Amino acid sequence: MKYLVFETKKDASKKAYEILKQLINKNSTLGLATGSTPIDLYHEMIEDFKKGNFSYKNIKSYNLDEYVGINYDHPESYHKFMETNLFNHIDIDKNNTHIPNAGAKNLKQALEDYQNELNNTVIDVQILGVGSNGHIGFNEPGTSFETGVHVVDLKEETIKANSRFFDNNIDLVPKQAVTMGINDIMRAKHIILLAFGKEKKEAIKYLTSGDLIDENVPCTILKKHPSVYVFVDKEADYK
Ligand code: F6R
Repeated sequence: MKYLVFETKKDASKKAYEILKQLINKNSTLGLATGSTPIDLYHEMIEDFKKGNFSYKNIKSYNLDEYVGINYDHPESYHKFMETNLFNHIDIDKNNTHIPNAGAKNLKQALEDYQNELNNTVIDVQILGVGSNGHIGFNEPGTSFETGVHVVDLKEETIKANSRFFDNNIDLVPKQAVTMGINDIMRAKHIILLAFGKEKKEAIKYLTSGDLIDENVPCTILKKHPSVYVFVDKEADYK
């Protein structure tokens, strides 16, 4: 595991993009995350694309998760998030982008379909944020490391943290999500995890120090992954 600390999240995201570019080529498959953490990295990707330095024409992407219970055109749905923060600004073919179909009438079938797609894919680089409770994707503490795609009941702290995107109104925050499982995340060839701000410090400490690998702190499984890059700003640095 490579642990890299930067003065600001902007600096960390710039470096993360540099590494990402070394790990992929024009035909790669990316695993993508949402939330506030990857926004600056996506900005770097967009800027470089605009300069003509990289094309996403043949890139495929798979997103980690999507809320259950909100429309895809809701500004906080992860479908909308990806359009607004990345897909609408690069030349990726939308047919090559995949996000869990959490709004499907037959949700069980949708989970199976996403699992099958993932099983038939190798993600070259998985981008991850981390929850203050150590969740990756929406695999909340206590989730088995063996899980695949599933519906999750979001923990109270996650709902509270995400209420900042929903007028600070907990009632408006979806209470469930569909997420890739830990097992799916671990199959990626490389992982780039970003974490910014003091709320992430404890999770980063468990992730980057000591021997603990425990389902109660989901990110600790990444200690077993052969290629993980962790980029933090100085506020998330535990030292
Ligand atoms: C989002 C995701 C989550 C977030 C995490 C941190 O697709 O899978 O694990 O990465 O909740 O969220 P932010 O970045 O908003 O602090």
